[in-house]
Amino acid sequence: MNKLLLCAFALGLASTTQADNGNAFDPPVMGWSSWNTYRVNINDALIKKQADAMVQKGLKEAGYKYVNIDDGFFGYRDEHGVMQTHPERFPNGLKGVADHIHSLGLKAGIYSDGGSNTCGSIWDNDANGVGSGLYGHEHQDADLYFNKWGFDFIKIDYCGASQELSLDEEKRYTEIRRAIDKVAGNHVSINVCRWAFPGTWAKNIGCSWRISSDIRPEWKSVKYIIGKNLYLSAYAEGGHYNDMDMLEIGRGLKPEEEEVHFGMWCIMSSPLLIGCDLTSIPEASLKLLKNKELIALNQDPLGLQAYVVQHANEGYVLVKDIEQARGTTRAVALYNPSDSVCGFSVPLEILEMGGKVKMRDLVKQKDLPTVRGTLKRKLPPHSVLILRMTAEQRLEPTRYEAEWAYLPCFNDLGLRPKTILYAPMKEASGGMKISYLGGSTENHAEWSNVYSEKGGMYDMTIRYVPHADRKLEIKVNNEKSILLKDLTGTNNEPLASVTVRVCLKPGNNIVRMGSPYCWAPDIDCFTLQKTD
Ligand code: GLA
Repeated sequence: MNKLLLCAFALGLASTTQADNGNAFDPPVMGWSSWNTYRVNINDALIKKQADAMVQKGLKEAGYKYVNIDDGFFGYRDEHGVMQTHPERFPNGLKGVADHIHSLGLKAGIYSDGGSNTCGSIWDNDANGVGSGLYGHEHQDADLYFNKWGFDFIKIDYCGASQELSLDEEKRYTEIRRAIDKVAGNHVSINVCRWAFPGTWAKNIGCSWRISSDIRPEWKSVKYIIGKNLYLSAYAEGGHYNDMDMLEIGRGLKPEEEEVHFGMWCIMSSPLLIGCDLTSIPEASLKLLKNKELIALNQDPLGLQAYVVQHANEGYVLVKDIEQARGTTRAVALYNPSDSVCGFSVPLEILEMGGKVKMRDLVKQKDLPTVRGTLKRKLPPHSVLILRMTAEQRLEPTRYEAEWAYLPCFNDLGLRPKTILYAPMKEASGGMKISYLGGSTENHAEWSNVYSEKGGMYDMTIRYVPHADRKLEIKVNNEKSILLKDLTGTNNEPLASVTVRVCLKPGNNIVRMGSPYCWAPDIDCFTLQKTD
């Protein structure tokens, strides 16, 4: 093993990044949206009735705020290019509808497309959607939707922009954001709807961005979307969230599947937009949607998305800090997506919890017996246990997975081969590694919360996939970097490791890995062991 001194860092002055967000950013949007149940078949009375039901059913009180009109309201552009609403569905325009929503103390959302044609014009035969998108009408539409009609939120789809015009996502959404800011000020909440994680630029544009194709009221679809979001936690931060799509609760899933659906959307800090008919929502679904303790995970002041700390058998264990950064209370999910019973055995130290740990089941809203050492559970198929856990001590983390890293060049658009990604590898801890790292300074991996309580010297052991002709550059807190060159490994093992000595300051440290010169090796994880 290769021991190298990485940096000498003066201890003492470094500050802890204490997440004290208070209300500094918006939590994920909560509300109702018309698409899942009604598709383009919406109208004035229907939207107002759903808004009324949101109040009557106690959902407003539970925190649901937005009533969002999705595709289907478009009529035509008049001779000045001004958008008119659908003559039968919204004969009196949309101002009255938005006013009604506002009169209930709620917020109003609208929909458009980044290109000329809406998705409904392509997939739902809604001929009025042709030419109704924002393309060429950005300022005019922003003035109408936000200033004249008074909408607070817009979902911006991409059917016309990608299928007809082949526009560049980042450029197109940036133009639209600028137009909206210029015309309406920057209070409008924007959802980027490009059906895949579009790139790290999305946080400059939107409060949320879709990460998947459209949800359906089927288990397979819920499981697929959770799967897409498992390794995107690095991109969610207060005010900017991965959007797992509108909720299919109240639309025929089994009770335990609804629990997985809502529970995972909550712990992953997705927007919560109900998609069923609120006037006839089944009681059990309504109760779940009003579960205050799950909602609190979603609206938590830290604004974090839970990340995967264990993937064993078919199960996943996810965790996130809640209430206070690096406190003793954390939210944990044991998730079984499989079709059979799954055994979980979770050493509490991987949750960074020491001593006796109190547990509360947030779905059932019941305290559970305290636990020590290892949490063992068997979960039925398609189910989740969502816990609020409070430990006697919060332990210092010792392992950082590649799949938690922030990759500035990552997107999931699949437009180019050989771009950086999280890839499955059965030998890797957690079953995942990063591939296609390096080749430029920007194409690095970053862990910005490498935590040391007191600061000091550590042995950092990096596990990687050996490969001749690769190099790895490591930087801690942007101090002196170290370049590792001999990464051939030994014995033909699928993974090799190398240890370097690093100096961490007290609190959060930023660790970067990459290679500006050539490909870096694929990375599995790194561990830290204090040396002094
Ligand atoms: C796309 C979006 C959906 C919905 C429809 C409307 O498919 O992903 O959520 O808005 O367009 O046509």
